[in-house]
Amino acid sequence: MKTKIISIDQKNPQEDRIKKASEIILKGGLVAFPTETVYGLGANAFDEKAIAKIFTAKGRPQDNPLIVHISNKKDIYKLSSNVNEKCLNLIEKFWPGPLTIILKKSDLISKKVTAGLDSVAIRMPTNKIALELIKKSTVPIAAPSANKSSKPSPTRATHVLDDLNNKIDAVIDAGEVDIGIESSVLDLSGKTPQLLRPGKITKKQIEKVIGKVEEKTKTKRPKSPGMKYKHYSPNAKVIIISSKKEKETIQKKEPYKKIKLLSYSDETTMAHNLFHDFRECDKEGIQIILVQSIKEKDFGQAIMNRLKKASENKN
Ligand code: TXA
Ligand code: MG
Repeated sequence: MKTKIISIDQKNPQEDRIKKASEIILKGGLVAFPTETVYGLGANAFDEKAIAKIFTAKGRPQDNPLIVHISNKKDIYKLSSNVNEKCLNLIEKFWPGPLTIILKKSDLISKKVTAGLDSVAIRMPTNKIALELIKKSTVPIAAPSANKSSKPSPTRATHVLDDLNNKIDAVIDAGEVDIGIESSVLDLSGKTPQLLRPGKITKKQIEKVIGKVEEKTKTKRPKSPGMKYKHYSPNAKVIIISSKKEKETIQKKEPYKKIKLLSYSDETTMAHNLFHDFRECDKEGIQIILVQSIKEKDFGQAIMNRLKKASENKN
């Protein structure tokens, strides 16, 4: 299959082009599209065959559930049979936005989407193109990040093509995304709210709205199936360093290796560029990427979470 590239202007999205993309979704095809966090690989959430294609295209493990994206807050009532007050307060404050909420699923949602779980992850993105694509498709859109499984999430359409060219029907090219790392994932399906993946919306911000939140982002056996897999990984080995001086020490130990240091002025810039820079390093044939760490506080916690995962599983 040849992947169609549909160029759309982020600021003034061309309606007719979004319409074309929505028609592909309704026919059971796969369309990669921008959100404010990263590019997603979308399919009609009510079409089991289309859902199966997502797993095949990404090489995604079958036990890793998908996030369902909606364009209207009210649609959560279709997807969940148990919308609680905490959820309503949170979506009032943070939706549309980079917060994914897990609730008990309704019968409308197939276990193919939730990888056999009784819960479903739901998010309403802020990105205009994403919202319009969902609206025009007239169905919720299931979408994991549009990378090959284990690779860094795509923050540009070119990254999607690097991983999935000719494996998906279309990609909407709207340039760079805003945030650059994936949404916060909060589980509200149990007794106590649990943060399963940190993101732009921090634990502190969530606690201000609903009180105590447990953190489940560091456990060895994570509740979010996706968090146990190798993730965000460039081909190069990633080493986190705390001072630039460490570069010399490592270079001395590995004199024949191509080493590159990534260091950023602030959290926003780091989140925005990290996954792109990983991919650029791979293109340059870098063997060791050194990344200057940042404070593991608030948004910094989410960035360090991705960085630590990228640095695991390699020697
Ligand atoms: O920002 C984002 O969230 C992006 C954009 C495209 O929206 N999507 C994204 O999807 O990052 P994905 O599939 O790469 O990550 C979803 C995470 C995985 O770790 C998955 O295991 C977890 O959410 N998840 C999904 N449904 C779940 C559920 N019912 N229970 C627990 N974890 C769930
Ligand atoms: Mg992903």
